[in-house]
Amino acid sequence: MRKQTLFMPFSYLVLHSLVLGAWSLVPNTVVLDKTRLVDAKVRLPFDETVRKTLVSLTAQADEWLSQGPWSVANKTITPPGGDIHDYASQAPYYWASNTSDGCPWINRDGVHNPDADKYTDHNDRGKMFQSSYILSLAWYYTGQAKYATHAGTILRTWFITPSTRMNPNLNHAQIVPCANTGRSIGIIDFSQQYTSVLDAAAILASSAPGWSSSDAAAFQQWNVDFLDWLETSQFGKDESAATNNHGTFAIMQSAGIALFTGDRDLAASKATTMKSRISTYISANGSQQLELTRTRSFHYSTFDLVAYTRMAAIAQKVGVDLWAYQGSQGQSIHQAVNFILPAATGAQDWPYPDLDFTPFSAKDVVHASADAGNSKAKAAVDKIPVPPGGDLWPLRPASEQLDALNS
Ligand SMILES: *[C@@H]1O[C@H](CO)[C@@H](O)[C@H](O)[C@H]1NC(C)=O
Ligand SMILES: *[C@@H]1O[C@H](CO)[C@@H](O)[C@H](O)[C@H]1NC(C)=O
Ligand SMILES: *[C@@H]1O[C@H](CO)[C@@H](O)[C@H](O)[C@H]1NC(C)=O
Repeated sequence: MRKQTLFMPFSYLVLHSLVLGAWSLVPNTVVLDKTRLVDAKVRLPFDETVRKTLVSLTAQADEWLSQGPWSVANKTITPPGGDIHDYASQAPYYWASNTSDGCPWINRDGVHNPDADKYTDHNDRGKMFQSSYILSLAWYYTGQAKYATHAGTILRTWFITPSTRMNPNLNHAQIVPCANTGRSIGIIDFSQQYTSVLDAAAILASSAPGWSSSDAAAFQQWNVDFLDWLETSQFGKDESAATNNHGTFAIMQSAGIALFTGDRDLAASKATTMKSRISTYISANGSQQLELTRTRSFHYSTFDLVAYTRMAAIAQKVGVDLWAYQGSQGQSIHQAVNFILPAATGAQDWPYPDLDFTPFSAKDVVHASADAGNSKAKAAVDKIPVPPGGDLWPLRPASEQLDALNS
Protein backbone atom coordinates (compact mmCIF):
# COMPACT_ATOMS: atom_id res chain seq x y z
CA MET A 1 0.00 0.00 0.00
CA ARG A 2 2.75 2.45 0.94
CA LYS A 3 4.74 1.51 -2.15
CA GLN A 4 1.74 2.43 -4.24
CA THR A 5 1.68 5.77 -2.44
CA LEU A 6 5.29 6.51 -3.20
CA PHE A 7 5.39 5.29 -6.77
CA MET A 8 1.98 6.14 -8.14
CA PRO A 9 1.39 5.29 -11.80
CA PHE A 10 0.45 8.11 -14.10
CA SER A 11 -3.22 7.12 -14.29
CA TYR A 12 -3.46 7.40 -10.50
CA LEU A 13 -2.10 10.93 -10.65
CA VAL A 14 -4.70 11.77 -13.28
CA LEU A 15 -7.41 10.37 -11.01
CA HIS A 16 -6.15 12.65 -8.23
CA SER A 17 -6.31 15.72 -10.37
CA LEU A 18 -9.84 14.81 -11.46
CA VAL A 19 -10.98 14.37 -7.87
CA LEU A 20 -9.19 17.41 -6.48
CA GLY A 21 -9.38 19.81 -9.40
CA ALA A 22 -6.41 21.76 -10.68
CA TRP A 23 -2.85 20.62 -9.95
CA SER A 24 -2.22 24.13 -8.70
CA LEU A 25 -3.95 22.98 -5.50
CA VAL A 26 -1.07 20.62 -4.73
CA PRO A 27 1.08 22.31 -2.07
CA ASN A 28 4.76 22.73 -2.77
CA THR A 29 5.91 21.46 0.63
CA VAL A 30 9.58 21.14 1.58
CA VAL A 31 9.48 18.37 4.20
CA LEU A 32 6.07 16.77 3.70
CA ASP A 33 5.74 14.73 0.52
CA LYS A 34 3.04 16.46 -1.50
CA THR A 35 2.17 13.23 -3.30
CA ARG A 36 1.30 11.67 0.03
CA LEU A 37 -0.82 14.67 1.04
CA VAL A 38 -2.82 14.33 -2.17
CA ASP A 39 -3.07 10.58 -1.69
CA ALA A 40 -4.37 10.90 1.89
CA LYS A 41 -6.91 13.50 0.81
CA VAL A 42 -8.24 11.27 -1.94
CA ARG A 43 -8.53 8.38 0.51
CA LEU A 44 -10.46 10.33 3.14
CA PRO A 45 -13.96 9.25 2.06
CA PHE A 46 -13.22 5.53 2.22
CA ASP A 47 -10.11 4.90 4.37
CA GLU A 48 -11.02 4.34 8.03
CA THR A 49 -7.48 5.04 9.37
CA VAL A 50 -7.21 8.31 7.52
CA ARG A 51 -10.71 9.36 8.64
CA LYS A 52 -9.92 8.64 12.29
CA THR A 53 -6.69 10.59 12.00
CA LEU A 54 -8.66 13.55 10.67
CA VAL A 55 -10.77 13.51 13.83
CA SER A 56 -7.56 13.88 15.91
CA LEU A 57 -6.17 16.55 13.59
CA THR A 58 -9.31 18.70 13.58
CA ALA A 59 -9.66 18.32 17.36
CA GLN A 60 -6.18 19.86 17.69
CA ALA A 61 -6.97 22.51 15.07
CA ASP A 62 -10.22 23.45 16.84
CA GLU A 63 -8.26 24.14 20.03
CA TRP A 64 -5.95 26.49 18.13
CA LEU A 65 -8.83 28.45 16.59
CA SER A 66 -9.37 30.38 19.81
CA GLN A 67 -5.64 31.06 20.44
CA GLY A 68 -3.18 33.55 18.98
CA PRO A 69 -1.93 35.32 17.00
CA TRP A 70 1.35 35.93 18.79
CA SER A 71 4.04 38.57 18.29
CA VAL A 72 7.58 39.27 19.48
CA ALA A 73 6.46 42.90 19.90
CA ASN A 74 4.23 41.77 22.78
CA LYS A 75 6.98 40.86 25.23
CA THR A 76 7.30 42.98 28.37
CA ILE A 77 11.10 42.61 28.64
CA THR A 78 13.15 44.77 26.28
CA PRO A 79 15.68 42.57 24.47
CA PRO A 80 19.41 43.41 24.42
CA GLY A 81 19.93 46.16 21.84
CA GLY A 82 16.48 47.57 22.53
CA ASP A 83 14.64 46.51 19.35
CA ILE A 84 11.33 44.90 20.39
CA HIS A 85 11.15 43.20 16.96
CA ASP A 86 14.20 41.09 17.81
CA TYR A 87 13.32 37.61 19.03
CA ALA A 88 14.78 37.05 22.53
CA SER A 89 14.88 34.05 24.84
CA GLN A 90 16.78 32.97 27.94
CA ALA A 91 18.74 29.71 28.28
CA PRO A 92 16.18 27.36 29.85
CA TYR A 93 18.59 25.23 31.93
CA TYR A 94 20.59 28.06 33.55
CA TRP A 95 19.96 29.17 37.13
CA ALA A 96 21.11 32.20 39.13
CA SER A 97 23.76 31.56 41.80
CA ASN A 98 23.09 32.38 45.44
CA THR A 99 25.10 35.60 45.20
CA SER A 100 23.81 39.16 45.58
CA ASP A 101 23.65 39.76 41.82
CA GLY A 102 22.92 36.14 40.86
CA CYS A 103 26.15 35.92 38.83
CA PRO A 104 27.42 33.62 37.51
CA TRP A 105 24.47 31.64 36.18
CA ILE A 106 24.91 27.86 36.47
CA ASN A 107 23.90 25.17 33.95
CA ARG A 108 21.67 22.38 35.30
CA ASP A 109 21.17 20.31 32.12
CA GLY A 110 17.57 19.28 31.57
CA VAL A 111 16.21 21.23 34.56
CA HIS A 112 13.95 23.99 33.24
CA ASN A 113 14.15 27.37 35.02
CA PRO A 114 10.66 28.95 35.05
CA ASP A 115 12.29 32.41 35.10
CA ALA A 116 13.32 31.80 31.47
CA ASP A 117 9.62 32.01 30.53
CA LYS A 118 9.58 35.72 31.35
CA TYR A 119 10.90 36.11 27.83
CA THR A 120 7.55 35.16 26.27
CA ASP A 121 8.91 34.87 22.72
CA HIS A 122 10.06 31.30 23.31
CA ASN A 123 6.68 29.93 24.37
CA ASP A 124 4.87 32.09 21.83
CA ARG A 125 7.03 30.86 18.96
CA GLY A 126 6.25 27.25 19.92
CA LYS A 127 2.52 27.97 19.74
CA MET A 128 2.97 29.87 16.48
CA PHE A 129 4.88 26.93 14.91
CA GLN A 130 2.43 24.27 15.99
CA SER A 131 -0.82 26.16 15.43
CA SER A 132 0.05 27.38 11.93
CA TYR A 133 1.03 23.85 10.89
CA ILE A 134 -1.98 22.05 12.35
CA LEU A 135 -4.44 24.69 11.13
CA SER A 136 -3.02 24.64 7.59
CA LEU A 137 -3.23 20.86 7.46
CA ALA A 138 -6.79 20.96 8.82
CA TRP A 139 -7.73 23.38 6.02
CA TYR A 140 -6.02 21.22 3.41
CA TYR A 141 -7.99 18.12 4.38
CA THR A 142 -11.39 19.70 5.22
CA GLY A 143 -11.50 22.76 2.97
CA GLN A 144 -12.97 24.74 5.89
CA ALA A 145 -11.92 28.37 5.48
CA LYS A 146 -11.79 29.11 9.23
CA TYR A 147 -8.66 27.00 9.63
CA ALA A 148 -6.77 28.69 6.78
CA THR A 149 -7.76 32.23 7.70
CA HIS A 150 -6.58 31.76 11.28
CA ALA A 151 -3.32 30.17 10.15
CA GLY A 152 -2.84 33.12 7.79
CA THR A 153 -3.44 35.63 10.59
CA ILE A 154 -0.92 33.82 12.78
CA LEU A 155 1.82 33.84 10.12
CA ARG A 156 1.09 37.41 8.99
CA THR A 157 1.26 38.70 12.58
CA TRP A 158 4.56 36.94 13.41
CA PHE A 159 6.41 37.46 10.13
CA ILE A 160 4.88 40.25 8.05
CA THR A 161 2.78 43.03 9.66
CA PRO A 162 5.21 45.93 10.32
CA SER A 163 4.03 46.64 13.88
CA THR A 164 4.21 43.01 15.03
CA ARG A 165 6.78 41.25 12.83
CA MET A 166 9.95 39.54 13.96
CA ASN A 167 13.27 40.67 12.52
CA PRO A 168 14.84 37.82 10.49
CA ASN A 169 17.67 37.03 12.93
CA LEU A 170 18.32 35.13 16.16
CA ASN A 171 20.96 37.39 17.68
CA HIS A 172 19.37 37.24 21.14
CA ALA A 173 18.28 33.63 21.59
CA GLN A 174 19.15 31.60 24.71
CA ILE A 175 20.71 34.48 26.58
CA VAL A 176 22.70 33.55 29.70
CA PRO A 177 22.35 36.49 32.12
CA CYS A 178 25.69 37.92 33.34
CA ALA A 179 27.47 36.16 30.47
CA ASN A 180 26.12 37.19 27.03
CA THR A 181 23.28 38.76 25.00
CA GLY A 182 22.51 35.63 22.99
CA ARG A 183 24.24 32.48 21.76
CA SER A 184 24.62 30.49 18.56
CA ILE A 185 22.90 27.52 20.16
CA GLY A 186 19.77 29.66 20.44
CA ILE A 187 19.20 28.90 16.76
CA ILE A 188 17.67 25.64 18.02
CA ASP A 189 14.68 27.74 19.15
CA PHE A 190 13.79 27.90 15.47
CA SER A 191 15.58 24.99 13.81
CA GLN A 192 13.77 22.38 15.91
CA GLN A 193 10.42 23.06 14.25
CA TYR A 194 10.59 26.01 11.88
CA THR A 195 10.54 23.85 8.75
CA SER A 196 6.95 22.88 9.68
CA VAL A 197 6.05 26.55 9.27
CA LEU A 198 7.51 26.44 5.75
CA ASP A 199 5.15 23.56 4.99
CA ALA A 200 2.24 25.46 6.58
CA ALA A 201 2.95 28.43 4.30
CA ALA A 202 3.34 26.13 1.29
CA ILE A 203 -0.08 24.62 2.04
CA LEU A 204 -1.66 28.07 2.42
CA ALA A 205 -0.08 29.16 -0.86
CA SER A 206 -2.06 26.43 -2.63
CA SER A 207 -5.10 28.75 -2.93
CA ALA A 208 -6.10 28.95 0.74
CA PRO A 209 -8.50 31.75 1.71
CA GLY A 210 -6.85 34.46 3.81
CA TRP A 211 -3.33 34.05 2.38
CA SER A 212 -2.79 36.42 -0.54
CA SER A 213 -0.02 36.35 -3.10
CA SER A 214 1.46 39.42 -1.40
CA ASP A 215 1.47 37.53 1.93
CA ALA A 216 3.24 34.67 0.21
CA ALA A 217 5.77 37.06 -1.36
CA ALA A 218 6.45 38.83 1.94
CA PHE A 219 6.93 35.52 3.73
CA GLN A 220 9.26 34.37 0.96
CA GLN A 221 11.35 37.53 1.40
CA TRP A 222 11.51 37.00 5.17
CA ASN A 223 12.97 33.57 4.48
CA VAL A 224 15.51 34.89 1.98
CA ASP A 225 16.69 37.34 4.66
CA PHE A 226 16.67 34.75 7.46
CA LEU A 227 18.63 32.26 5.34
CA ASP A 228 21.16 34.97 4.58
CA TRP A 229 21.58 35.59 8.33
CA LEU A 230 21.88 31.85 9.01
CA GLU A 231 24.51 31.39 6.31
CA THR A 232 26.63 34.51 6.94
CA SER A 233 26.44 35.36 10.67
CA GLN A 234 28.97 33.88 13.10
CA PHE A 235 26.12 32.38 15.15
CA GLY A 236 24.74 30.67 12.03
CA LYS A 237 28.13 29.26 11.07
CA ASP A 238 28.90 28.06 14.60
CA GLU A 239 25.53 26.34 14.96
CA SER A 240 25.88 24.47 11.65
CA ALA A 241 29.29 23.25 12.83
CA ALA A 242 27.95 21.96 16.18
CA THR A 243 28.68 18.26 16.60
CA ASN A 244 25.42 17.24 18.31
CA ASN A 245 21.72 17.66 17.45
CA HIS A 246 22.24 21.44 17.15
CA GLY A 247 24.30 21.01 13.99
CA THR A 248 21.92 18.45 12.50
CA PHE A 249 18.96 20.76 13.05
CA ALA A 250 20.76 23.87 11.77
CA ILE A 251 21.81 22.20 8.53
CA MET A 252 18.34 20.71 8.04
CA GLN A 253 16.71 24.10 8.67
CA SER A 254 18.95 25.88 6.14
CA ALA A 255 18.31 23.14 3.58
CA GLY A 256 14.57 23.50 4.08
CA ILE A 257 14.63 27.28 3.72
CA ALA A 258 16.91 26.98 0.69
CA LEU A 259 14.44 24.64 -1.00
CA PHE A 260 11.51 26.87 0.00
CA THR A 261 13.18 29.95 -1.50
CA GLY A 262 14.26 28.15 -4.66
CA ASP A 263 17.99 27.66 -3.93
CA ARG A 264 18.11 23.96 -4.80
CA ASP A 265 21.90 23.90 -5.09
CA LEU A 266 22.32 25.06 -1.52
CA ALA A 267 19.77 22.48 -0.34
CA ALA A 268 21.68 19.74 -2.18
CA SER A 269 25.01 20.83 -0.73
CA LYS A 270 23.51 20.67 2.79
CA ALA A 271 22.32 17.14 2.01
CA THR A 272 25.88 16.18 1.05
CA THR A 273 27.18 17.68 4.31
CA MET A 274 24.66 15.53 6.14
CA LYS A 275 26.23 12.37 4.71
CA SER A 276 29.50 13.11 6.49
CA ARG A 277 27.60 13.80 9.70
CA ILE A 278 25.90 10.39 9.45
CA SER A 279 29.35 8.75 9.16
CA THR A 280 30.81 10.79 11.98
CA TYR A 281 28.08 11.10 14.59
CA ILE A 282 26.12 7.86 14.20
CA SER A 283 28.07 4.81 15.42
CA ALA A 284 28.13 1.53 13.49
CA ASN A 285 25.84 0.10 16.19
CA GLY A 286 23.42 3.02 15.68
CA SER A 287 24.15 4.88 18.93
CA GLN A 288 24.42 8.66 18.82
CA GLN A 289 27.16 8.95 21.43
CA LEU A 290 26.85 12.72 21.93
CA GLU A 291 23.14 12.41 22.70
CA LEU A 292 23.72 9.54 25.12
CA THR A 293 25.76 11.81 27.41
CA ARG A 294 22.71 14.00 28.08
CA THR A 295 20.50 13.77 31.16
CA ARG A 296 17.62 13.12 28.76
CA SER A 297 19.45 10.72 26.45
CA PHE A 298 16.41 8.99 24.93
CA HIS A 299 14.72 12.30 24.26
CA TYR A 300 17.85 13.69 22.59
CA SER A 301 18.44 10.51 20.59
CA THR A 302 14.95 10.79 19.11
CA PHE A 303 15.34 14.56 18.75
CA ASP A 304 18.47 14.25 16.60
CA LEU A 305 16.61 11.67 14.52
CA VAL A 306 13.81 14.16 13.92
CA ALA A 307 16.43 16.35 12.23
CA TYR A 308 17.97 13.47 10.25
CA THR A 309 14.61 12.13 9.06
CA ARG A 310 13.32 15.59 8.09
CA MET A 311 16.62 16.21 6.27
CA ALA A 312 16.17 12.93 4.39
CA ALA A 313 12.73 14.16 3.26
CA ILE A 314 14.17 17.49 2.07
CA ALA A 315 17.14 15.80 0.39
CA GLN A 316 14.85 13.47 -1.56
CA LYS A 317 13.31 16.53 -3.23
CA VAL A 318 16.72 17.63 -4.57
CA GLY A 319 17.76 14.17 -5.68
CA VAL A 320 19.91 13.06 -2.73
CA ASP A 321 18.98 9.74 -1.08
CA LEU A 322 20.04 10.01 2.57
CA TRP A 323 17.97 6.99 3.56
CA ALA A 324 20.16 4.75 1.43
CA TYR A 325 23.39 6.39 2.57
CA GLN A 326 25.72 4.30 4.73
CA GLY A 327 29.08 5.22 6.23
CA SER A 328 32.03 2.92 5.69
CA GLN A 329 31.12 0.88 8.80
CA GLY A 330 27.42 0.76 8.00
CA GLN A 331 26.44 3.96 9.88
CA SER A 332 22.98 5.07 8.72
CA ILE A 333 19.80 6.80 9.77
CA HIS A 334 17.97 3.46 9.82
CA GLN A 335 20.65 2.01 12.09
CA ALA A 336 20.21 4.92 14.53
CA VAL A 337 16.46 4.23 14.53
CA ASN A 338 17.12 0.53 15.18
CA PHE A 339 19.19 1.50 18.24
CA ILE A 340 16.20 3.10 19.98
CA LEU A 341 13.60 0.48 18.94
CA PRO A 342 13.92 -1.99 21.86
CA ALA A 343 13.33 0.78 24.43
CA ALA A 344 10.68 2.54 22.34
CA THR A 345 8.59 -0.63 22.07
CA GLY A 346 9.15 -1.58 25.71
CA ALA A 347 10.99 -4.80 24.76
CA GLN A 348 14.02 -3.62 26.79
CA ASP A 349 14.83 -0.90 29.29
CA TRP A 350 16.73 2.15 28.06
CA PRO A 351 20.10 1.61 29.78
CA TYR A 352 21.19 5.29 29.73
CA PRO A 353 20.11 8.25 31.88
CA ASP A 354 16.83 9.97 31.09
CA LEU A 355 15.11 12.29 33.52
CA ASP A 356 11.73 11.80 31.85
CA PHE A 357 11.64 8.73 29.60
CA THR A 358 8.81 9.07 27.05
CA PRO A 359 8.71 6.17 24.57
CA PHE A 360 5.99 7.78 22.40
CA SER A 361 8.54 10.46 21.42
CA ALA A 362 10.01 7.89 19.01
CA LYS A 363 6.75 7.26 17.11
CA ASP A 364 7.30 9.62 14.18
CA VAL A 365 10.95 8.82 13.50
CA VAL A 366 10.11 5.11 13.49
CA HIS A 367 7.21 5.76 11.10
CA ALA A 368 9.61 7.67 8.83
CA SER A 369 12.18 4.87 8.85
CA ALA A 370 9.48 2.23 8.29
CA ASP A 371 8.06 4.08 5.30
CA ALA A 372 11.57 4.41 3.88
CA GLY A 373 11.87 0.62 3.88
CA ASN A 374 13.31 -0.40 7.28
CA SER A 375 11.69 -3.75 8.10
CA LYS A 376 12.64 -3.60 11.81
CA ALA A 377 10.95 -0.22 12.11
CA LYS A 378 7.90 -1.57 10.26
CA ALA A 379 7.59 -4.41 12.73
CA ALA A 380 8.00 -2.05 15.71
CA VAL A 381 5.95 0.99 14.89
CA ASP A 382 2.58 -0.27 16.12
CA LYS A 383 4.16 -1.33 19.44
CA ILE A 384 5.22 2.22 20.30
CA PRO A 385 2.71 4.13 22.46
CA VAL A 386 0.53 6.69 20.69
CA PRO A 387 1.34 10.32 21.62
CA PRO A 388 -1.27 12.46 23.41
CA GLY A 389 -3.52 14.01 20.77
CA GLY A 390 -3.24 10.94 18.54
CA ASP A 391 -0.90 9.58 15.90
CA LEU A 392 -1.16 12.12 13.08
CA TRP A 393 1.30 10.32 10.77
CA PRO A 394 -1.24 9.19 8.11
CA LEU A 395 -2.11 12.86 7.44
CA ARG A 396 1.17 14.52 8.49
CA PRO A 397 3.91 12.14 7.32
CA ALA A 398 6.93 14.17 8.55
CA SER A 399 8.65 13.69 11.94
CA GLU A 400 7.99 15.98 14.88
CA GLN A 401 9.51 15.94 18.38
CA LEU A 402 6.33 14.62 19.95
CA ASP A 403 7.25 14.92 23.64
CA ALA A 404 8.25 18.57 23.26
CA LEU A 405 4.87 19.30 21.70
CA ASN A 406 3.02 17.64 24.52
CA SER A 407 4.81 18.87 27.62
C1 LIG B 1 -0.52 40.71 23.34
O1 LIG B 1 -0.74 40.56 24.73
C2 LIG B 1 -2.07 40.86 25.12
C3 LIG B 1 -2.12 40.81 26.64
O2 LIG B 1 -1.61 39.61 27.11
C4 LIG B 1 -3.03 39.90 24.45
O3 LIG B 1 -4.35 40.17 24.81
C5 LIG B 1 -2.86 40.02 22.93
O4 LIG B 1 -3.68 39.07 22.29
C6 LIG B 1 -1.43 39.81 22.52
N1 LIG B 1 -1.30 40.07 21.10
C7 LIG B 1 -0.35 39.53 20.34
C8 LIG B 1 -0.38 39.85 18.88
O5 LIG B 1 0.51 38.80 20.80
C1 LIG C 1 20.54 28.41 46.68
O1 LIG C 1 20.10 28.19 48.00
C2 LIG C 1 18.89 27.45 48.10
C3 LIG C 1 18.49 27.43 49.56
O2 LIG C 1 19.59 27.13 50.40
C4 LIG C 1 19.12 26.06 47.51
O3 LIG C 1 17.94 25.30 47.58
C5 LIG C 1 19.53 26.20 46.05
O4 LIG C 1 19.83 24.92 45.51
C6 LIG C 1 20.75 27.10 45.95
N1 LIG C 1 21.00 27.34 44.52
C7 LIG C 1 22.20 27.26 43.96
C8 LIG C 1 22.26 27.56 42.49
O5 LIG C 1 23.20 26.95 44.56
C1 LIG D 1 28.26 1.52 20.21
O1 LIG D 1 29.41 2.04 19.58
C2 LIG D 1 30.07 3.03 20.34
C3 LIG D 1 31.18 3.63 19.46
O2 LIG D 1 31.99 2.62 18.95
C4 LIG D 1 30.58 2.44 21.64
O3 LIG D 1 31.25 3.41 22.40
C5 LIG D 1 29.37 1.92 22.41
O4 LIG D 1 29.81 1.26 23.58
C6 LIG D 1 28.57 0.94 21.58
N1 LIG D 1 27.33 0.65 22.31
C7 LIG D 1 26.78 -0.55 22.32
C8 LIG D 1 25.54 -0.69 23.11
O5 LIG D 1 27.27 -1.50 21.75
